Amino acid sequence: MQESDFIWMNGKLCRWDDAKVHILTHALNYGTGVFEGIRSFEMQNNRSAIFRLKEHVARFFDSAKIYMMEIPYAPAEVAEAIKETVSVNNLPECYIRPIAYYSYGEMGVNPLPNKVAVAISCWPWESYLGKDKVTSGVRCQVSSWRRVNPSIMPPQAKCIANYANCSLAKIEAFKAGYDEAIMLNLDNMVTEATAENIFRIKDGILSTPPASDGALRGITRDTVIQLAKDFGIEFRRNSISREELYTADELFLTGTAAGVTPVREVDGRMIGTGNWPITRKLVEAYSDVTHGRNSKYSEWLEPLWEKPVIQSAS
Ligand SMILES: Cc1ncc(COP(=O)(O)O)c(C=O)c1O
Repeated sequence: MQESDFIWMNGKLCRWDDAKVHILTHALNYGTGVFEGIRSFEMQNNRSAIFRLKEHVARFFDSAKIYMMEIPYAPAEVAEAIKETVSVNNLPECYIRPIAYYSYGEMGVNPLPNKVAVAISCWPWESYLGKDKVTSGVRCQVSSWRRVNPSIMPPQAKCIANYANCSLAKIEAFKAGYDEAIMLNLDNMVTEATAENIFRIKDGILSTPPASDGALRGITRDTVIQLAKDFGIEFRRNSISREELYTADELFLTGTAAGVTPVREVDGRMIGTGNWPITRKLVEAYSDVTHGRNSKYSEWLEPLWEKPVIQSAS
């Protein structure tokens, strides 16, 4: 990974190399932490802005609440700390990773006796599935691993432990030569990919699985739904079966890390004609919105501090 200069840890900025935790940190041993993935983008005026910061911070607090984790800061303080961290690192575009976790103190499965620690990191990270894949599309495999069922682990909480489930699917796909895995739920319906939501287009109708099927309420997903409505594209939130993936005219994945990325193949079946006109429209519209080229959605862009403040860094 490409390192940056500073990481925010529990209210203070520290040097990247000094952002360390104890080996017996509760979250490291039991997966008891929650996180967000956010991005900042460069605008036309050479300033940068964080995309949908408010929504990401709200989801961060919701994830913590599910695990009875009291984040020792108010949402507005976390939002300010995120802006501070990105500003001091002076990166025009970056990926941002806030994490809250049960820290060091008591071992054992009950996390509650441990203090909750919070850290915010950011670093330059190009499109997660590969910049070229935004044009060429990714090859996906339907995983033999099912997405965690809400009765086992709540998928709406971005909990570190959930990603062990995603990692199993990702490893399987990667070893079989695919770019990404798509996971079904226990009822054989499509949920999402390992770090992205999925959309299907058939006969001009756009659809995506509902959260009740196990899909995360993705912020990019919500963005794309709003953009599709602006284009007058008919949209439905409905269950998608495995075979409906194969017979789609177009499929694409959405996520903060991956952006909007077309799917070219699922389990060896080519998707549509390889042309994907609606997907291309949405890829472009998403790029316009995130880079401040669509004034309708300027309130989604949180401008960064103009002059970085670095005196609190040790
Ligand atoms: C499992 C999973 N699904 C979907 C997404 C996409 O969500 P968002 O668009 O909010 O980044 C993510 C990324 O956070 C994810 O981890």
